[in-house]
Amino acid sequence: MRISIIAAVAENLVIGKDNDLAWHLPDDMKFFKETTKGHTVVMGRKNFESIPHKYRPLPGRPNVVLTTNPDYEAPKCAVYTGLTTALKEIERGGETHCFIIGGGEIYRLALEMDVADDMYITQVHAEVKGDTYFPEIDQDNWEEKVIAAHKADERHAYAFTVKHYIKK
Ligand SMILES: NC(=O)c1ccc[n+]([C@@H]2O[C@H](COP(=O)([O-])OP(=O)(O)OC[C@H]3O[C@@H](n4cnc5c(N)ncnc54)[C@H](OP(=O)(O)O)[C@@H]3O)[C@@H](O)[C@H]2O)c1
Repeated sequence: MRISIIAAVAENLVIGKDNDLAWHLPDDMKFFKETTKGHTVVMGRKNFESIPHKYRPLPGRPNVVLTTNPDYEAPKCAVYTGLTTALKEIERGGETHCFIIGGGEIYRLALEMDVADDMYITQVHAEVKGDTYFPEIDQDNWEEKVIAAHKADERHAYAFTVKHYIKK
């Protein structure tokens, strides 16, 4: 099973603020939806709770929530208390490509455990105020390719570049 991280990250590594995204970038959201559609998404309990009730679970893809609370209930989602078990069970269910969709704690965990084959990172070209960060990555370990570039416009306060990082 291929395991991909997908995240949108500001120049100062901010990814979130007050348990919400720190920006509204509809075309990046569209990229996220199209890329993850049909595949299992793995997220932390806080990320799950940051998604408005009407949009969760994220439609059209199995949703997996990680929490240390074995009694946690997330309707129509699979809940696991560890990333290793979650990934094993997802693969056992026949998934061929799963996405780790954050937030900060779960990205850190996935990078520390070195489980990801590749990463889709939207670099948001701004220094943004926030309270949740993407971990610093060692660029030497990843081969970087630009997938798309988007200018700031009336719908997007910031320009952004979507990059694919493949583990060397
Ligand atoms: N820009 C982006 O691409 C992006 C993407 C996703 C999220 N975000 C933002 O990120 C923020 C949320 O991130 P966060 O770092 O605060 O929280 P998070 O990573 O979404 O969730 C943290 C929770 O995950 C559970 N957890 C952590 N490590 C675990 C482990 N080893 N085993 C089992 N469960 C574990 C714990 O749940 P319990 O406390 O229940 O035990 C912990 O409180 C929000 O602001 C959100 O908008 C941004």
